[in-house]
This record gives sequence, structure tokens and C-alpha cells, in this order.
Amino acid sequence: MISTKNLPSETMTDSAAAPSLSELLTALSFALDLIEGAAPGHALRTCVLGMRLARELGFSSIAMADLYHALLVKDIGCSASSARMCQIIGGGDDRAVKSGSKLEDWTRPGPPKLSTLRLLWDNVLPEGNRMQRLNRILHIARNQQSNNQEISQLRCDRGASLVRKIGMTEQTALAVRSLDEHWDGSGYPQGLKGASISPLARVMAVAQHLDVFAVEQGAEQAMFVLRERSERWFDPETVKAAESLHQRRALWQQRSPTGIQASTDPAKAVRAAVIALSPHQTKRLSGSHIDLVCEAFAEVVDAKSPFTHRHSKGVAEAARKIASAMGLGPDRMQLLNRAALLHDLGKLRVPNSILDKPTKLDDAQWSVMQEHPRLTRTILGRVTQFRELADIAGAHHERLDGAGYPNRLAGSRLSLEARILGLADVYSALTEDRPYRAAFSPREALAIMGRDVPGRLDAACFEALSAVAGTVAGPTPSVAANVA
Ligand SMILES: [Fe+2]
Ligand SMILES: [Fe+2]
Repeated sequence: MISTKNLPSETMTDSAAAPSLSELLTALSFALDLIEGAAPGHALRTCVLGMRLARELGFSSIAMADLYHALLVKDIGCSASSARMCQIIGGGDDRAVKSGSKLEDWTRPGPPKLSTLRLLWDNVLPEGNRMQRLNRILHIARNQQSNNQEISQLRCDRGASLVRKIGMTEQTALAVRSLDEHWDGSGYPQGLKGASISPLARVMAVAQHLDVFAVEQGAEQAMFVLRERSERWFDPETVKAAESLHQRRALWQQRSPTGIQASTDPAKAVRAAVIALSPHQTKRLSGSHIDLVCEAFAEVVDAKSPFTHRHSKGVAEAARKIASAMGLGPDRMQLLNRAALLHDLGKLRVPNSILDKPTKLDDAQWSVMQEHPRLTRTILGRVTQFRELADIAGAHHERLDGAGYPNRLAGSRLSLEARILGLADVYSALTEDRPYRAAFSPREALAIMGRDVPGRLDAACFEALSAVAGTVAGPTPSVAANVA
């Protein structure tokens, strides 16, 4: 259930122009799927599975509502550990390792399985020789427990804190924090055991396992592994509930609660099914609550790399100040602020081996990077009320001369808000540390940008930026040192 105690009083009023929380979170959940390389729609399918399990277990309507929201945002803290994971594996692909490790049983004592070794071999120290890579794998194996503890702590603490920030209940926050705990006490971050683990988290752990394995290896194998890990990873009562539903053919996606079959657009079908399960289907979010959700997701994006630890918020601040100097009204300002907060959502798909690379990107890496604005637009465009916002956010790397990306849009197709956002993004990026250079001062950044005015960057927006640059929060110390 969504708590209203910390939120503005108009939070639950109706407004056709505003999305409901489930409409917004079901769309943004596709961004969370990107962080650890899950199959698109993972959070949504997990939500359907988890809600069926909870119903089978006889959860109260209050617990069901808490669980519903916890399932949608269960991975909201994952980006906080991406940079650390990349460092542990020596600059390899953090998403590939995180995604592959979900299929591994890393709690068994003894030497690692062949599949675990292969996963590591394919991803550790991409620049190293065979001996260096072997040594790195041995180092990882020796420190497995402490690495797991650290990675889990980072994601669970951050996840719970963001859940509280967007006004969800303490039970929902606790469920997100306890997602990696195991029934026998071998999980993280607290090593909780049995009934001391949140019942919601126990259901979530089973539901996410089922989706991950069913997508990769089929439903029967998902059930086989579930039985095998019962009383070790998973609560035996929840496993029993899954078994019963599976036997009655009432567990999997084809029996969606709306009767929508996963046919032409599975993502659309499962999203509709999840929205239909929402405990607050008709309640529209207030403007301030939407802003809170946008700010929380800006933090998700910014947490991914130490070099961007306040990038989205910095871009939003710069964009607001430029817009204010240019006399934009409050509605356009609100639209621009949200687009700025969410403009780099698609970067959640870029591995930290690319984001944090200290040297020039090769062609393949550069094309991965260039896809991020398109992904941002696709994710945000799923929210009907965010269509214009999606266009603005998705155009932040387009340039007036048509040489930007991803669509090489010419200036005539770039709205004023898109031009402001593009300019604010460049200014913020230049005044932040990057892996390959230190931050420029505001004055240096303006001088660099001036060379692209008016050919690539809008002259009027640049004039407004030049007037307000001194009031935009200056370059902040990079936290790169903390993970180096
Ligand atoms: Fe970007
Ligand atoms: Fe950006």
C-alpha cells in the first residue's frame, strides 16, 4: 500500500492528465530490467507470478498491496553496485556477470562449478593475459563471501532508501532490502533466517527465480531448481504454493488475470496485466509525487557510475535555470525538469566497462553508448501522458546541424525544450569529471561550447546559459576515488 503520510495532500486526487503510480512504475520497470541484463519485462512477469503466489498463500489485501509495489521496484537499488562489480571483475561486463550469476548456485560450499568459471573467464580482465585473468578468478573465488556481502549491501540499502523516497510503506522497503536473504541464513545482507525474513521478500525471491529460469531454461526447469533449493534458498511454504499453482496450470503467464494473451506484443500484454492487478488503479498521481518518482529514477541512473553521481540532477538544475532565464511558463518548466531528470535512463543498459572506460571507446562500444537516448524514449513513451516528455528526453544528443544521434534530427525538428536539455546536458557533462579527463571549470566549459554555437547548439539558449552558469551548482567532487 502506498503511504500518504509523507506526501503532499493532493497525492491521491484524480487528474486525467496524470498517470497512476502503476502506469508510471510499470513503464519505468523496463529501465530497472536493463541494469542487470534481465530479459525485458522481467519485473512485470515477476510481479504477476508474485501476486499469484501471494493469493495462494492467503496474503491480506494490505500485504498484497505492499508486495505489488515491492515487486515492481525490487531492482531499484541495483545500479548502486554496478561500478563495484565492474571493478571486482577487472573492467569486464558487469551486466553479463550479474545476469549470468542469477542462474548459478553460489551458496554451495566447495570449488566453483564449471559454468561459474566459464562465466568469469568470459568476463574478467578483458585487457589482461591468460595468467592475469586466472589470478583474478582465483582472487574472486577467495573473496566470494565478502564480495557478495558488499554488492548485496549496496543494492539493498540503496533500494530500500529509494522505496521510502517515493512514498511506499516500510513493509515494502523492508521487502526490497531483504530480497537476497535465504531461508537457511546463507543470504545477504543480514544473513536472516526462516521466518525472520519478510514474508513479502520470501515470495519475491521465489517469483524472480521463476521468471529468470523460465525465460532461460523453461518452466519445468524453473520448477525443478525451485524444488531443489527449497528450505535452502527458498521458504518451503512458498515453494509448495508455486508447486500447487504449477500443477493446476495457474502459475504461468498464459493465464494472465486480464485474459490478455502474450501474442503480438508480449511487453504490452504483461504491462496491461500488471496494471490490472494494481491496488489503486484509478488513483492519479499528483504533480509533486510524479516529481518524486522522477527524482528517484534520476538517482538510479546517477548511481551507476561514480563519474555521473549527480549528473541527471545537475542537468535538471541547469535546464531549469536556462528555462527560467528564457521565461518558460510553469507547465513547460515542469515538463523540461522531468525530461532532464530521466534523460539518461537508457544508459542503464550500458555496461560500466564502457561508462567508466578511461580510454577511447572502440566502434562497437560507441554504438552501444549511442543507443541510450533511443532506449530512454522507448521506455518513457510507454506512459501515455509522457509522450512529449519522451520526445524531449530522447533528443538530448541531437544537434541543430543534424549530426547528432540517434536520429540525426535537424534543428527544425528540435523543440525549445529539447534544445535547452541538449545544452544543459553538454554543460553538466563538461563540468563533471570523466574517466579520461578532469572536470572543466564553468568558464572553460562555456568557451568549449561556444565553438558549437550557433551551428550545433542554440544561440538563444546558450546566451541564457551564459547568464546563469555562475548560479548552477559547480563541479562536484567525483566519488570515483571511492571505488577506484
Ligand atoms: Fe545521454
Ligand atoms: Fe546526460
